[in-house]
Amino acid sequence: MTKPKYALASDDTEIARLQAQAALIAEPTTLLLQRGGIRPGMRVLDLGSGPGDVAFQVAEMIGPNGSVVGLEQDPAQIAVAMQRRDGFGVGNVDFRHGDARTFLDEEPFDAVVCRLLLSHLPGVVDVLAHHLRNLRPGGIFISVDYDVAGVRALPEVELYSRLIEWIIAGFEYAHGDVFVGMRFPVLFDQAGFRDVGTLGLQVYWPPRSPVVAAYMVAVVRAMKDAIVNSGVTTEEEIGLDTLEQQLDEAIMSANAVCSLPTVVGGWGRRSE
Ligand SMILES: C[S@@+](CC[C@H](N)C(=O)[O-])C[C@H]1O[C@@H](n2cnc3c(N)ncnc32)[C@H](O)[C@@H]1O
Repeated sequence: MTKPKYALASDDTEIARLQAQAALIAEPTTLLLQRGGIRPGMRVLDLGSGPGDVAFQVAEMIGPNGSVVGLEQDPAQIAVAMQRRDGFGVGNVDFRHGDARTFLDEEPFDAVVCRLLLSHLPGVVDVLAHHLRNLRPGGIFISVDYDVAGVRALPEVELYSRLIEWIIAGFEYAHGDVFVGMRFPVLFDQAGFRDVGTLGLQVYWPPRSPVVAAYMVAVVRAMKDAIVNSGVTTEEEIGLDTLEQQLDEAIMSANAVCSLPTVVGGWGRRSE
């Protein structure tokens, strides 16, 4: 199986960005994982585990009688995840190298989870259907991902709208889907899951919050190559050196309330 284009970078800056993003969406992630059915004592597979944040959150939820396997394609991310795990003293999380589209373990899992992975993968229905084989009968798959339709500024900020357009174009170029959260009900159903459920969560950020500009510009920086290659804009127009300051000022001068992508949970059960 060939490796699909991955829209984001894979370097120290990106690994740090993923950890900052993880802190920002830790609360909705816990709520959605709980709502989807993560319970103490479960054996859980975390696909596309990156620097490990979801695996660590799940480890806390399942407690000492459960265990987590984090699966990741990027050895640099695995190294950081293992170092963090050892630093936190977490004993029940293992990280393995592999492809989330094809990985099959010898033992079944009670739950398979992933966050911000399906938006990067073409053929999501096939990926979901594949993991029915990693689940015990009655086991659950929970995906947490974005719906970028939730990103806006009120009143509208022209530069903010432009960044959203760039990010959507970059994902499209890399065959990702930034609206994947909105499609969960159909995707889980087509993959053969039962008891499919979804929930989207949204924070509304005040104009003076530095979070919004920092977050959006970090995403643009991480996927600059895909954005430029898509042809939607040029490196000069992006102007990364001053972009965050410009965006921050534009939001403040419009006194705009901003939302980031809606954090959507989708889940379904393998039939008994
Ligand atoms: C946007 S990051 C999200 C990381 C983490 N799940 C989180 O929410 O913080 C996506 C991760 O999935 C990994 N990834 C992408 N495609 C993959 C594949 N086919 N198999 C395994 N990992 C993959 C990337 O290397 C990256 O670490």
